[in-house]
Amino acid sequence: MNFQLSEEHQMMQKMVREFALKECGPTAAERDEEERWDMGIWRKMVDLGLSGIPWPEKYGGVGADYLSYVIAVEELSRVDSSVGVTLSAHTSLASWPIYKFGTEEQKQTYLRALAEGRSLGAYCLTEPGSGSDAAGMKTTAVLKGDEWILNGSKIFITNGLDADIFVVFAQTNPELKHKGIGAFIVERKFPGFSVGKKEKKMGIRSSSTTEVIFEDCRVPKENLLGQVGEGFKIAMMTLDGGRSGIAAQALGIAQGAFDHALAYAKQRNQFGKPIAKLQAIQFKLADMATKIEAARLLTYQGAWREDQGLPYGLQSSMSKLYAGDIAMEVTTEAVQVFGGYGYTREYPVERFMRDAKITQIYEGTNEIQRVVIAGHILKD
Ligand code: CAA
Repeated sequence: MNFQLSEEHQMMQKMVREFALKECGPTAAERDEEERWDMGIWRKMVDLGLSGIPWPEKYGGVGADYLSYVIAVEELSRVDSSVGVTLSAHTSLASWPIYKFGTEEQKQTYLRALAEGRSLGAYCLTEPGSGSDAAGMKTTAVLKGDEWILNGSKIFITNGLDADIFVVFAQTNPELKHKGIGAFIVERKFPGFSVGKKEKKMGIRSSSTTEVIFEDCRVPKENLLGQVGEGFKIAMMTLDGGRSGIAAQALGIAQGAFDHALAYAKQRNQFGKPIAKLQAIQFKLADMATKIEAARLLTYQGAWREDQGLPYGLQSSMSKLYAGDIAMEVTTEAVQVFGGYGYTREYPVERFMRDAKITQIYEGTNEIQRVVIAGHILKD
């Protein structure tokens, strides 16, 4: 067993860490305040190859592995998790299902555009009436001649405002329930596609989250991903890997908040000495560091298993559950270390605390992760 990151992984870590500090850090608070995503940051990420980390070069990727991608999301989120989740939704939710289930032509057209960063990706599963019960979706897809006609709406779509390629799940035969669901690659420019309401959120405010509407949206027949009826399986398998991305985001948020709390504890004087000398603060820092390390080991293990071709759904759910929960605990404690200052927007820890909350909710609430984990344990 080897717990040492390879030279390539260390290089990715260093490159993304420097990028995040230089290009994301200085404007993170302002973009959060203004609820504004910056495509300029995305274009710089594309220049570094971050838009296609785990995909083969023949599809426009850089041919690295899934662990490299997870490290990149962690490092971005350590500074600004809105940037982290943008990459996560683009890579594991939008690009992965095309890589895994796409035809050669779909990969050359869509995966290549995503990997090369000419397009930004999004994943459309959730609807107003179906969140945790994903199979209960009402959006329909009806085949008419050479086109699928989609009707319905999706909500909480990460990257909704700027994405050009959307992986969309729709019901082709309601009587068949989850066995009737299909997956479709939808371009923003297809007739009948529109972006609806933009959400005003507690955290990850620089990342866009929108409604997406299909009104007799015409999708070419060849944009069906996989087979008719395979959509639910594709959605679930996509989330199996996507949850490692959210675990990495949560891990980065926790690490970022801890970095700030540690630095502050060393320089904030009370009772004539730095508060880091007080055991009350030392115990907090010790607990935070331990939880972060445990979350990192779980998260990296899930990604490593995917890279080894081993089953990883269980580890991915466990890491998302644990990293999400400890991100909330660690960021709350980081605010506590800062005291009254931590509650203000003068310091970044309150942003980290607001950002942490969503990691317990999206890509399956942490209650759903327990359902998934229990399913694996009982099956095995
Ligand atoms: N891989 C492959 N197949 C799977 C699977 C997986 N991980 N999970 C389930 N399936 C298959 C089952 O084997 C079963 O197949 P058969 O019918 O052939 O036997 C079928 O799917 C139905 O399985 P279940 O009966 O377990 O399905 P369910 O309806 O009870 O739902 C669930 C299970 C785990 C609760 C699932 O609905 C779920 O994960 N819900 C949460 C959805 C979610 O995470 N949404 C987040 C959306 S993305 C997002 O957050 C926005 C963003 O942009 C970041």
